Amino acid sequence: MILKPPPIVEKMLGIVRSSTVWRSFWRQGYPSNDENRALIMFNSLFLHLHPVKVKGHTLKITYTWGLGFIAFWLFVILTITGVVLMFFYVPSTTRAYQDIQALETTIPFGIVLRNMHRWAAHLMVLIVFLHMCRVFYTGGYKAPREWNWVVGVNMLVLTSMLSFTGYLLPWDDLAISAIKIGSQIAAVTPFIGQWVRGLMIGATPTEEVGQNALLRFYVLHVMILPIVLYLLIFFHFWRIRKDGGLSLPEKTAEEPADNGKKVLVN
Ligand code: HEM
Repeated sequence: MILKPPPIVEKMLGIVRSSTVWRSFWRQGYPSNDENRALIMFNSLFLHLHPVKVKGHTLKITYTWGLGFIAFWLFVILTITGVVLMFFYVPSTTRAYQDIQALETTIPFGIVLRNMHRWAAHLMVLIVFLHMCRVFYTGGYKAPREWNWVVGVNMLVLTSMLSFTGYLLPWDDLAISAIKIGSQIAAVTPFIGQWVRGLMIGATPTEEVGQNALLRFYVLHVMILPIVLYLLIFFHFWRIRKDGGLSLPEKTAEEPADNGKKVLVN
């Protein structure tokens, strides 16, 4: 059922819609037919990221559980809270711990900010993992989506690296010990172990985790890894479109399963 506004409202809307200012915003007519509805998608910077048409089953919550989108929005929350945290944190071995203590005790809403960042981070690791399981169990990794699976694996690695690099930043005993262990694991890489350890923490084989490690982890955590992950996420979304939308369940009422076949590119 289409709800119609009262005639006076419709008349006023008609006047607004025929104005040049309105037309400069909305280049197509009112979305009352398929063509205009499609044009709205094409003409909007944000909406054009979505396909004009989607297969019905992809809207069913029990197919995807929305896990990919939840992972994406958690990453957006992490970015926003992370940027705000940067105003209160200096990556120095003499200040980092105090800065975190100040967030927990004196800075207004600092504890909320820090915990939003921490919990979103823990949750993102879990949700990305569950999303990967969903893709596996629905066969979403099969042709023609193998490449997007590979991209996804890289995103899982980046998510873990973000988690690991963030862990050192509070510079408390737990964090320092964790990175010591991590760097010792890196050091036993066959042949290039000491080099990998040196690259990771900026220390010679006789030196321990220190200022260089903190700075490296900080730059990786706030700049390099998030930028690469955002680029991969947008590539991931674009690939879903190019692979013809999401995979189909083995048997849907609408269409036969497409797994294993080439599907249309939109
Ligand atoms: C930051 C991490 C990730 C984000 C934000 C993300 C986002 C998404 C979104 C929004 C979708 C659409 C459907 C849905 O919500 O399930 C999707 C689909 C997909 N994702 Fe991810 N993803 C991530 C990680 C991964 C990982 C770790 C893998 C696999 C190793 C993966 C493989 C795939 C594949 C193959 C599809 C298409 C599935 C199908 O057609 O059924 N993604 N992803």
